[in-house]
Amino acid sequence: MMEKSSRIAELFEREDQFLGKTVTVQGWVRTRRDSKAEISFVEINDGSCLRNLQVIVELSRPELTRHLDPVTNGCSLCVKGVLQTSPGKGQNIELHADQLKIYGLSDPALYPLQKKRHSFEFLRKIGHLRPRTNTIGAVTRVRSRLSYAVHQFFQERGFCYIHTPIITASDCEGAGETFRVTTLDPGHPVVEGQADDPFRDDFFGKAAYLTVSGQLQAEIYALALGRVYTFGPTFRAENSNTSRHLAEFWMVEPEMAFSDLEDDLAMAECLVKRLIEVVLSQCREDLAFFVRFIDPDLEKRLERVVETAFEIITYTEAVRLLKHSGEDFAYPVEWGNDLQAEHERYLTEKVFRKPAAVIDFPRSLKPFYMRVNDDGDTVAAMDILVPGIGEIVGGSQREERLDLLLEQMRLKGISPDDYSWYVELRQFGSVPHAGFGLGLERFLQFVTGLPNIREVIPFPRSPGHAQF
Ligand code: 4AD
Repeated sequence: MMEKSSRIAELFEREDQFLGKTVTVQGWVRTRRDSKAEISFVEINDGSCLRNLQVIVELSRPELTRHLDPVTNGCSLCVKGVLQTSPGKGQNIELHADQLKIYGLSDPALYPLQKKRHSFEFLRKIGHLRPRTNTIGAVTRVRSRLSYAVHQFFQERGFCYIHTPIITASDCEGAGETFRVTTLDPGHPVVEGQADDPFRDDFFGKAAYLTVSGQLQAEIYALALGRVYTFGPTFRAENSNTSRHLAEFWMVEPEMAFSDLEDDLAMAECLVKRLIEVVLSQCREDLAFFVRFIDPDLEKRLERVVETAFEIITYTEAVRLLKHSGEDFAYPVEWGNDLQAEHERYLTEKVFRKPAAVIDFPRSLKPFYMRVNDDGDTVAAMDILVPGIGEIVGGSQREERLDLLLEQMRLKGISPDDYSWYVELRQFGSVPHAGFGLGLERFLQFVTGLPNIREVIPFPRSPGHAQF
């Protein structure tokens, strides 16, 4: 076993307990600066927190300098020494080295990370090293903390965690933006629409895809266990090269039996607020970093979201507001057209200046599973929009009435035979139920202020990009 060491976060958190004691730390060198040939200051980061630990190495001690000489940015080290109060600016504590061991050197002529700000585009090109930067380290810690908080939130409320399949035979959103999963020879592609099922000889004996959403399978379990959620990766082959779209992203999807759209909306608002509270209270150091370097208004904006009720507005009313806005939108505003990012941002940033839920969308715009409203033209859908991003949550009450579900399927060209299990759930003990999907990466953009979604996921996948 390796020598017991302390995480740097732990030393900062419990300074008083460690001061004057001998401790061992391990990490990567962020900077090294030698002063007047007496002392070398080596800053080490181990990823446990944003801050580096300053290590003091006395250059008069040959047993240390022997090891120190080749130490440059990016080297990995183990340092044992006494933790002392620091007289210098910027830190309360520092480690006075007594033993120093190098795990791995880092050639300064080749190591691409310098002590300066690199552009996010450049960092994406060195995705294997970018977690060693302050920004990506901070967003990674926030992402991890929020993922944990998602489970806490639902477990505390009696939800059961369901592992819905990644490989599926259904296209939940019906948009045809699916990645196909096949073991067929790519040299002999099948032609869809043949009389004979072209995928009969494929691995699953039928066409299969990567899931775009775990919702339909979550519904199965909600109609047995009452309150369930799924939280996993989802895949969309949409050719959207934007700052808020990924081909692989993580979605939090609760599904609740005996619930309507109003219950759904209330749960989504509660989740969004709870997750923001977690960032405000448990990610303080990383949040302060984002405020300082990414978005000065971030913390105030997040606090406001927690304090104020979300605006609720129908799609029809939203269209009216947009039409009378006097804005010159790139996409025309007409009842029946989808709301574009520019429309969503106008509503939440200029009109309401807080999160807003748009409800009751035209039936023609939404997937087959949404519950038809009494007007016959709209469905019980909701999108939650937030300033700076637009939509972060999409959800609906599901159509629980057999006849109306079958009609929706017919209108959308979906064969009830392909979804016989979904139809049967309406034949055997159907109940009103609802759910939503919160995109983890969009949410992370909202709480970090990072403008591009590719910075908030460890390994971004987008058209033309699938490194690692
Ligand atoms: O509105 P969407 O498509 O809803 C569904 O998939 C439902 N089946 C969810 C449900 O009711 N269980 O997606 C939900 C959320 C969006 O609001 C957005 O935050 C995120 O998923 N999202 C994406 N995030 C990143 N890249 C993409 N390409 C995304 N598409 C959707």
